[in-house]
Amino acid sequence: MNSLQRFSNACFCKNKDRPPVWLMRQAGRFLPEYRALREKHDFMTLLKTDELITEVSLQPWRRLHMDAVIVFADILLLPNVMGMELNFLEGQGPKFSKLIASQKDIDALKPVEPKKDIPFLLSALRNIRKEIKEDAALLGFAGSPWTVASYIMDDFENIGKKNPELLKNTLSRLTHETIVYLSAKVDAGVDAIQIFDSWGGVLSPEDYRVWSAPYIKEIVTALKKRGVPIILYVKESGPHLQTMIETGCDVISIGWETSLEEAKKKALGKTAIQGNFNPHILMQATPDEIRQQTQIMLKTMQDYPGYIANLGHGILPKTPVENVEAFIKSCQRSAVSFQQEKIKR
Ligand code: CP3
Repeated sequence: MNSLQRFSNACFCKNKDRPPVWLMRQAGRFLPEYRALREKHDFMTLLKTDELITEVSLQPWRRLHMDAVIVFADILLLPNVMGMELNFLEGQGPKFSKLIASQKDIDALKPVEPKKDIPFLLSALRNIRKEIKEDAALLGFAGSPWTVASYIMDDFENIGKKNPELLKNTLSRLTHETIVYLSAKVDAGVDAIQIFDSWGGVLSPEDYRVWSAPYIKEIVTALKKRGVPIILYVKESGPHLQTMIETGCDVISIGWETSLEEAKKKALGKTAIQGNFNPHILMQATPDEIRQQTQIMLKTMQDYPGYIANLGHGILPKTPVENVEAFIKSCQRSAVSFQQEKIKR
C-alpha cells in the first residue's frame, strides 16, 4: 500500500493499514535547510516563487518521509492576492498595510483569479506531484474565514458587537474567494484540503455556530462535490467537536488539550480524526519519552477506523529534528506491530 492510498483511506475511515502520519507546519523553521533558504530570501519571496515553494514543501519529506506533503503557503496569501499589501516583519509576524474598516474596503478587494494570481502555487503543486508520485498524499490548505478575518479586520476584538454587518460581509466574501482558491488547488492535483481554523477556539460554542461554522460548511459543501476529503483543524477544539462534525468535513483535526477519547465518542461513524500530539512535548522531551508518548496516543486510536497521526498544533520552530524523527518513525514502525498483533488475535 502506498502513502497516498493509506492517507485517503484514513480520511474516509477505511484504513486497514497503519495510520498515516504528517505534521502541521512541517514545511518551516525546525529544519536547518529551511532556515538556510530564509537567509537568502525573504518570506514573501518564498511564498511567491514556484521553485522555492517546491523546495520548501519537499524538504521535510526528503528527510523524514512523512505520509503527506503540505504545499508551502500561508493562510494570509489569499487576502494578499486579493489586493491587501502584506509584510512579515522579523520577530513581529504578519503586518497588513491597511486593514478592513468599512464596506468600501471589502468592495475594493479583487476577486481571485487563480491562473493570474497564484500561478507559482499551481505550478509548484504539479512539480511536487512529479517528485512524490503516490509516495505521499499532497495537501492544500486555507484559513477559515473567521481565522483569516481575525488578521485582516481593523478593531477585530470589538467588531462582532460594533459592526456585525461588516464582519458578516467580510466572512461571506472570504468564503466565496476561499472556494475559488481551493478549487484551483484541487484542479492542480491536491489529494486533500485542510482548513485551519486556528482561532475558532476563542469563540463560545454558541458564537462558533454563528461566526465560524456556517462559513466553513459552505466551503466544505462546495469542495466535497469535487471528491477531495476535507480536514478541519480547530485549536482548542473541545467545546466545538459536535459543530465541527456538522460542517460535513471528513476529518476533524483536534488540539492537544482535547481528549482523543472524547473525540472518538463524538466522531465515531461520522468523521475520521487527526491529531493530537502535544507540540511542546515534541520540542522538550527526549526521543525515548517521545516514543513512549506516541505509543500511548497510537494505542488510544488503535481500533478507530479513520485516524491520521499528527500534532495538536503546528510544530514549534525550536523542535530538534531528532525528536521529529522519533515521532514519525514511532508512528510508522510500531503501528505496524499493533496491526500484526491484531491480525494474530
Ligand atoms: O504546514 C506547513 O508546513 C505549510 C506552511 C504553513 C505556513 N503557515 C508557513 C509559515 C501553514 C499551514 C501556515 C498556516 C498559518 N499561517 C496559520 C494557521 C496554522 C497555525 O499554526 O495556527 C496562521 C495563523 C498563519 C499566519 C502566520 N504566518 C503567522 C501568525 C506567522 C508569524 C508567526 C510564525 O509562526 O512565525 C506566519 C509566518 C509563517 N508561515 C512562517 C512559515 C514557515 C514563518 C516565517 C519565517 O520563515 O520567518
